[in-house]
Amino acid sequence: MARKIILDVDTGIDDALAIAYALGSEELELIGVTGTYGNVLVPTGTRNALAILELFGREDVPVYAGPGHARAKDSFEVLEISEFIHGKNGIGEAQIPDAKREVEAKSAVDFMVESVREYGDELVIVPVGPLTTVAAAMEANPEFAANAHIVNMGGALTVPGNVSAWAEANINQDPEAADMVFRGVGDITMIGLDVTLQTLLTTEETAKWEALGTTGGDFLAAATNYYIKAYETTAPYLGGCGLHDPLAVGVAVDPTLVTTIDINMKTDTEGETRGRTIGDETRLNDAEKTAHVAVAVDVQRFLGEFMRRLTDLAAATPSR
Ligand code: BDR
Ligand code: CA
Repeated sequence: MARKIILDVDTGIDDALAIAYALGSEELELIGVTGTYGNVLVPTGTRNALAILELFGREDVPVYAGPGHARAKDSFEVLEISEFIHGKNGIGEAQIPDAKREVEAKSAVDFMVESVREYGDELVIVPVGPLTTVAAAMEANPEFAANAHIVNMGGALTVPGNVSAWAEANINQDPEAADMVFRGVGDITMIGLDVTLQTLLTTEETAKWEALGTTGGDFLAAATNYYIKAYETTAPYLGGCGLHDPLAVGVAVDPTLVTTIDINMKTDTEGETRGRTIGDETRLNDAEKTAHVAVAVDVQRFLGEFMRRLTDLAAATPSR
């Protein structure tokens, strides 16, 4: 039986690749996409998610909008660096038609709460943006934290952050939310920069999508080429772009892609280390460890799975 999944995205180029990975995985049933802010504003992100779902023929997957800014703030503006990496439209200036439908009237928070209540252990939530919506779901329902299973992209434990020496981008947007989630949720797997900066894509792979001659292949290639170019400037030593968000989906399908350590985690919310994800010293000796932090990844196996799933998905879209 397919595992139910909710993907919480700030679509974003690697978010788009994560949506495609989920759609290309028969082990998963994507019951909904929830839109958060981060790489883009919520309306831009949900617009992109709807358009991508339609491009791949999946108008059956509902899209819900989450809160538009961090817990401790009352507004949000896209950072210059986000715009540089993902483009103004969030998908590397790739042009795909607007979807014919709109976001659902129900909020992302209500959808998450209701889904955890209804499906329990059959469901995994994969947040690949700031953890604001998940924290709001915890607040909305006292049983949510104990019953939710989460695989999130965010944080860094054994490597520096990517927006500061301490902080990774998703966590940096809302450290208070991240701290609530790490301290409160009973089962969370952290897919951080420790592993996502080891899974890299180059134009050698995107050329294979281009060669398909399909609308889906063209979109994946155009968006990802933009992202690869940005990485050439921000992190030239890597030699490719980081497949952050798709790796979290990959691990939701197959946890053996990564090696994890069991540890109780927290997020610093004060001082110069604000946004750092680190072990919680107050729960160091607790017998139960609620977080599983990925520290190693089977790079070749993941890249093989990633290319197979996305290429098959894109091959099935109409010719350009
Ligand atoms: C994360 O930040 C966002 O820019 C990406 O989409 C990814 O979720 C990487 O730090
Ligand atoms: Ca993201």
